[in-house]
Amino acid sequence: MIGRKSAMGGKASPFFLIILSLGFFVATYNLVTLVIHNLNQESSKELMGARVSGRKIDISEGSKRSGPRRPFHVALTATDAAYSKWQCRIMYYWYKKMKEEEGSEMGGFTRILHSGNPDELIGEIPTVVVNPLPSGMDRGYIVLNRPWAFVQWLEKTEIAEDYILMAEPDHIFVNPLPNLARGGYPAAFPFFYIKPSENEKIIRKFYPEDKGPVTDVDPIGNSPVIIQKSQLEKVAPTWMNVSLKMKDDPETDKAFGWVLEMYAYAIASALHGVQHILRKDFMIQPPWDLKVGKTFIIHYTYGCDYSLKGELTYGKIGEWRFDKRSYLRGPPPRNLSLPPAGVPESVVTLVKMVNEATANIPGWEDGS
Ligand SMILES: *[C@@H]1O[C@H](CO)[C@@H](O)[C@H](O)[C@H]1NC(C)=O
Ligand SMILES: *[C@@H]1O[C@H](CO)[C@@H](O)[C@H](O)[C@H]1NC(C)=O
Repeated sequence: MIGRKSAMGGKASPFFLIILSLGFFVATYNLVTLVIHNLNQESSKELMGARVSGRKIDISEGSKRSGPRRPFHVALTATDAAYSKWQCRIMYYWYKKMKEEEGSEMGGFTRILHSGNPDELIGEIPTVVVNPLPSGMDRGYIVLNRPWAFVQWLEKTEIAEDYILMAEPDHIFVNPLPNLARGGYPAAFPFFYIKPSENEKIIRKFYPEDKGPVTDVDPIGNSPVIIQKSQLEKVAPTWMNVSLKMKDDPETDKAFGWVLEMYAYAIASALHGVQHILRKDFMIQPPWDLKVGKTFIIHYTYGCDYSLKGELTYGKIGEWRFDKRSYLRGPPPRNLSLPPAGVPESVVTLVKMVNEATANIPGWEDGS
């Protein structure tokens, strides 16, 4: 379905809606914090030792739960650029396939297209169109549109599922994904380069001391995260507010650069007392992670460059390579050559999965 355009109409409405939602947010902030806090206390019983004296640890194996299926909606933020489109098509192909497999709790799917206008993929992928930030507000940092996209999507859509997975176009589901959240504890992937404790001075500009220790800010971004819809409805407006404020602060902008919006999500969720279960097995990132094993998502954000002997030549163009950035203006061809012998299983699996998707998506090479 195509999302209807803002009922308030016209180009001025995004800014108006920002003000409106922020105003609403400020009014309810204290209440929300209180409620979330209580929810967290309730659900910590359910965690059964996953928290030790307030510190999060990874739980993975052995955390299988029986009980009713808890489906989550897969929400993919995207633009109408050719580069975003081909990744979304591959992502959606693997969603459809893994959704049907044993152990999956994947529910519906929405591509949240934050370019303001429908594109030609709306017939292929369920899509809701939302507005980008008003011109100039993202200052060329396009991912600042993500929080605003989630705010609009949550406002204008009825979502059947109680949980939401925030996903990105360069994610490939490599195993059926269960709902990794536990009650009031969303699940997130810990990124090694998000280090709130090492950036205390900057974090404190947005997470004042009376809120709690800096270690409350999780080492995560918004994706991948599986979170209760009711929690995201509260966190998303704050996330937008915090990311715009961070972008406005030269010191913060300089320190955080391209990961600013990830810190903004981590801080926004901490401001609401939302703490994430950190799941290293949520995602692998070739070429650094070598094996797929029982992980769930392949994130192909890094280029994979190898010599013909199968040696990683990272930072130097390899004799064999797969790098999404080689295809900025259009999709990769079908049937990419497989890597030479000696290249890790994660990279081989990635290329095979890309090839399977592109072989089966009708009209792959003509367009997008
Ligand atoms: C949002 O930003 C405004 C302006 O900087 C600020 O006054 C307000 O307190 C912020 N709200 C939240 C919830 O962060
Ligand atoms: C894919 O390419 C390989 C060579 O790299 C070739 O042997 C094979 O026949 C091709 N498959 C298809 C379906 O085109």
